Amino acid sequence: LKILVVGMSGHVASALRAAPLAPGDSLLAPGRAGVDLDRPETFASIAQIGPDVVINAGAYTDVERAEDEPELAMRLNAEAPAGLAVAARRAGARFIHLSTDYVFDGAKGAPYVEGDAPAPLSAYARSKLAGEEAVRAARPDALIVRVAWVFSPWSRSFVDTMLRLAVSRPEVSVVDDQFGCPTPASAIASGLLDLSRATLARPAAVTGTFHLASRDGVSRAEFAEAVFAASAAQGGPAASVRRVPSSAFPQKAVRPPDTRLDSSRLRDVVGVEAPSWRPHLESVVAAMIDRWRAGEAFIGPLQQQGPSAEG
Ligand SMILES: NC(=O)c1ccc[n+]([C@@H]2O[C@H](COP(=O)([O-])OP(=O)(O)OC[C@H]3O[C@@H](n4cnc5c(N)ncnc54)[C@H](OP(=O)(O)O)[C@@H]3O)[C@@H](O)[C@H]2O)c1
Repeated sequence: LKILVVGMSGHVASALRAAPLAPGDSLLAPGRAGVDLDRPETFASIAQIGPDVVINAGAYTDVERAEDEPELAMRLNAEAPAGLAVAARRAGARFIHLSTDYVFDGAKGAPYVEGDAPAPLSAYARSKLAGEEAVRAARPDALIVRVAWVFSPWSRSFVDTMLRLAVSRPEVSVVDDQFGCPTPASAIASGLLDLSRATLARPAAVTGTFHLASRDGVSRAEFAEAVFAASAAQGGPAASVRRVPSSAFPQKAVRPPDTRLDSSRLRDVVGVEAPSWRPHLESVVAAMIDRWRAGEAFIGPLQQQGPSAEG
């Protein structure tokens, strides 16, 4: 199995680079010098690398800023993935594209399944939905994998934001009317590797859209309390949580109220159970606290490569 990952230092790209591989398997993440979403002329290099599977873990992910630069978000999240999908086909590779729970408006009141109608509320979400549609049109056999509320020690997330606030505040106000499935990037990487093997082995069956998110949905406030409990248990910064409504934090981009995802299709088709975020949170927070105790930021780039990874 030879996998090419688009993206380098993000949650999912880093987790894939850190993931243990089977003997003989390889994973290459050439970074923007190799494949740059904003330079479609670089996509031709995929054929020279000759992977079995291309995983697009790169994206424009700044939800707030996308309101001010929707064209750039559309270019990187919709036009570029369609070009990548075609380049992967020319290279003879399967294509896996990452998308988001934010394609939904959050009004369902229950976890979303893959067939539910999307209704994006923000420029970022519209660009990601346009990306799904463009990838499906370019490549009907592509896999679209929707993930949610990703956390890891390698990129910005709700988890390090909470820890940073707790360093200087005894109490942190957190919204209690937004619900979702916090998902560790390492579990996403493991699921993507299983999906890669499965789609190569059974290309006709393992195709289409999959949800890959934790099974235990929570509110932002509940998740913040879990972050602080994990940190306090390790002697790290912690604060008490003051529950507030989303209206207390006016933001440009509208956040959907409840985007919990149902990942049963992944279990039924590929045999991958939805993870729980709870055991992963402790180890991610521990890694963040270790860095902070060493005088560094809570998050930082992946230092070591996985044993079989290259690039
Ligand atoms: N984070 C979340 O909570 C979340 C939630 C739902 C869905 N998702 C989706 O999950 C996927 C992975 O996101 P993430 O959480 O890993 O995001 P992230 O931590 O913000 O990282 C963004 C990634 O995009 C890459 N990238 C940005 N511009 C690029 C360009 N021009 N060319 C090539 N690569 C570029 C970055 O690579 P560099 O190292 O080169 O900067 C980085 O690897 C995305 O599709 C995202 O929409 C994320």
